[in-house]
Amino acid sequence: MKKLRVLALMHEDLVPPESLEGHSDKEIAEWKVEFDVVDGLQQLGHEVRPLGVTDELGPIRRAVLGWKPHVVFNLLEEFHGVGVYDQHVVGYLELLKQPYTGCNPRGLMLTHDKPLMKKILSYHRIPTPRFGTIPLGRKFRGTPRRLEYPLLIKSTIEDASLGISQASIVHSDDKLSERIAFVHEKVQSDALVEEFIEGRELYVGVLGNQRLQTFPIWEMEFTKMPDDVARIATAKVKWDPKYQEKHGIITRAAQGLSEAVQARIVKICKRAYRDLSLSGYARMDLRLTDDERIYLIEANANPNLEFGEDFAESAEAVGIAYPDLLQRILNLGLRYRAAWRA
Ligand SMILES: Nc1ncnc2c1ncn2[C@@H]1O[C@H](COP(=O)(O)OP(=O)(O)O)[C@@H](O)[C@H]1O
Ligand SMILES: [Mg+2]
Repeated sequence: MKKLRVLALMHEDLVPPESLEGHSDKEIAEWKVEFDVVDGLQQLGHEVRPLGVTDELGPIRRAVLGWKPHVVFNLLEEFHGVGVYDQHVVGYLELLKQPYTGCNPRGLMLTHDKPLMKKILSYHRIPTPRFGTIPLGRKFRGTPRRLEYPLLIKSTIEDASLGISQASIVHSDDKLSERIAFVHEKVQSDALVEEFIEGRELYVGVLGNQRLQTFPIWEMEFTKMPDDVARIATAKVKWDPKYQEKHGIITRAAQGLSEAVQARIVKICKRAYRDLSLSGYARMDLRLTDDERIYLIEANANPNLEFGEDFAESAEAVGIAYPDLLQRILNLGLRYRAAWRA
């Protein structure tokens, strides 16, 4: 295998130390993805240079022109502290004619904007919950037309379940306007109001540019959750280890899905990946109802690559060990047909 110069692009505060020794679990959790990727790439024998970035393009330009990396490993999720700006950094890399890993600017733009993503999915008849949006600064009172309770209210642009809790699910007009106001005030973004889909919580990893590979369908299970608590991936469910333990929250290969349902899920994921112009790798979030209706909740471009997290675990389940996964992601970055290559 060819030894590559890999510039690992990440947030300035998340540049990991050489070793985990002497760091608390809490500290490690902050930069675990960055550590795992840099470490994995080094194990593959590549020459890796981590570059921390906050709000300046100069260091990127200097590193790209001066060091001439074969590929940039993109772990950046924001610029100027703005999440949706990561697409512009990737755009800048294209302007520099620099190959990079993960998603292209168009795919990032489309998937960061949930309403826009859902409009595209609807056009392609990919099932996604019916929805409406309430812009920041506008109050909403009354009964939503064309939507049926229960409804789930979330931010149109945030990820990591920011602002999503049990209270996000509402059954009445009063609670609806309250929760919209909450998203406006606390998350400071437009509010997305969706029909709530009762069902199983599924994730599917997808890898590829043109030819796509999917990993086994993964499921988040709530093994000790009381019956009156909705089984959704709230911020607490995702990020609070104590809460996860208390409620027996685990993720693993989905059990007992028929061949037919599995095939439908895979087809939906691959179609959505293409319809949303994704490249590199992504993770799809879906819900499956008792009567086997499948809904795509969202597509995540550049999902969490931490060792032991869902994406890497589900790859491992089909024999793609962690360093091998990183190598495939590098190869896809090197092969991506950016416009400047034409
Ligand atoms: N319409 C919905 N019906 C049921 N559950 C939902 C719905 N929208 C979101 N959720 C739950 O909230 C979680 C986070 O929502 P998601 O849209 O994926 O936001 P994020 O980008 O923060 O991951 C989902 O994984 C799911 O458990
Ligand atoms: Mg999600």
